[in-house]
Amino acid sequence: MDIEVITGSIQEQKAQAVVVNLFEGIEEPGGATGALDKAVGGQIRDLIAGGDFKGQRNEIAVLYPGEAIPARRVIVVGLGKPEKFSAEIARQAAASAAQKARDLGVTHLHTVVHGAGSAGLSPGLGAQAVAEGTILGLYRFRELKTQEEEGEKKPELEALTLVEFDPERKAVLEAGARAGQILADSACLARDLSNRPANVATPSHMAEVARKIAEEADLDCQVLDKAEMEALGMQLLLSVNQGGGEPARFIVLEHNAGCDDLPAIALVGKGITFDTGGISIKPSQGMERMKGDMSGGAVVLAALRAVGLLGLPLRVVGLVPVTENMPDAFATKPGDVFGSLKGLTVEIINTDAEGRLILADALTYAGEFKPSAIFDIATLTGSRIVALGDYAAAVMGDEALIEQLRTAGEASWERVWPLPLFEEYGEQIKSDVADVKNVGGRSGGAITAGFFLSKFVPEDIPWVHIDIAGLEFIEKTRSYIPKGATGFGTRLLVELLRHWEA
Ligand code: BES
Ligand code: MN
Ligand code: ZN
Repeated sequence: MDIEVITGSIQEQKAQAVVVNLFEGIEEPGGATGALDKAVGGQIRDLIAGGDFKGQRNEIAVLYPGEAIPARRVIVVGLGKPEKFSAEIARQAAASAAQKARDLGVTHLHTVVHGAGSAGLSPGLGAQAVAEGTILGLYRFRELKTQEEEGEKKPELEALTLVEFDPERKAVLEAGARAGQILADSACLARDLSNRPANVATPSHMAEVARKIAEEADLDCQVLDKAEMEALGMQLLLSVNQGGGEPARFIVLEHNAGCDDLPAIALVGKGITFDTGGISIKPSQGMERMKGDMSGGAVVLAALRAVGLLGLPLRVVGLVPVTENMPDAFATKPGDVFGSLKGLTVEIINTDAEGRLILADALTYAGEFKPSAIFDIATLTGSRIVALGDYAAAVMGDEALIEQLRTAGEASWERVWPLPLFEEYGEQIKSDVADVKNVGGRSGGAITAGFFLSKFVPEDIPWVHIDIAGLEFIEKTRSYIPKGATGFGTRLLVELLRHWEA
């Protein structure tokens, strides 16, 4: 999408449609909305007085101003109660307006920046939210459709112009809009990877995408093949790959590679391109969703793209172990024991607890980069879904880092909530034959998975595990998250890094 900021009055724009907003409970609109209302002879005041528009969140009205102003349509979007206003409300309002505009066949939309300056939202954050909401809300995954669907015949909305009255704000709005665009485009890239079926989004496809990202965002990219992983001793990762299918890959993407004077942060993402469960095979009902089991890995690739394009003053390493989890005659059997890059031996009780195995070797490998912090993100456990439902990822590990993640979660509205890693949970993953086993029973499943990972984190490096299982897809469209892959975690991690406190 083309996004630009111009200085001027919204009511003077020659446009296919202009967007203004209204808070709930306001009878006499002020600011840009008030100015436009005067220009169209009080039509917005009439809407309110007639009870036809209340300004509730995401409420939409469309006016046809005729000759009164140069714009063909006016889209009024509700912002809800002023005291409840936030960047998240602005993001949603932008998505509602953009979706309406697209439905009307608008290809170039002009809008005010919702709430900029009012209710504690800075103009920069307002512009970011409008860009984010617009791009995220218009997302559709159509690359595998050859026939247009009913209601999708309209052209795409290709351009967005933010109209700002105050010339002194222009530069700040431009910076905010650019950040919003990078964040949202990156999240949409993660959505594409998760939406793609496993016969398309294979480990080698993930590696190809990583190379393209490296080119686009000026990153270093290295892809290890099976022989290289064997030589390194990534036995746990290879144990998941040995059930046949596509050959595994290990992707390393690096921003500011080699800049040892910058704080280094490692991001590790689970890249299971399809999880059948292996010999501990999953029920076939709903198994197609397991094409999304590489969503953590997709998020890491997408976050690295954003970090590179934003030029953050950090060294960031993205590590993505990628493999299918398939059953065949050579597949891991329950009871098999493998070594690991760390050296610990692992008894595989359940081959469906594969994510923690590939992450274990990747976490150990992260130590090579001497990072000051490590985050891993993974669709790891059904237990996360049971514990926290649809609105919060589970986080475990270093408390100070968790605090930073919670702040980033509020900003991005990709929120997180902590679970404990008390040492007593370690009892559940003790093995009779090896150093550790890969499952700890039904109780506290998200925690014992996190505890397992903690054993493979290089010593003395603060680390947080982020379990996003179940958050990678939604069944029903939710404002700027259309049904399907969500890209959850991309904006969370990038906001964390944008405001990194070493
Ligand atoms: N990929 C799954 C977790 C998952 C479940 C992701 C639902 C998204 C939606 C993971 O590999 C898995 O199978 N976990 C098992 C672990 C169990 C065998 C200890 C689970 O949570 O049931
Ligand atoms: Mn599994
Ligand atoms: Zn899995």
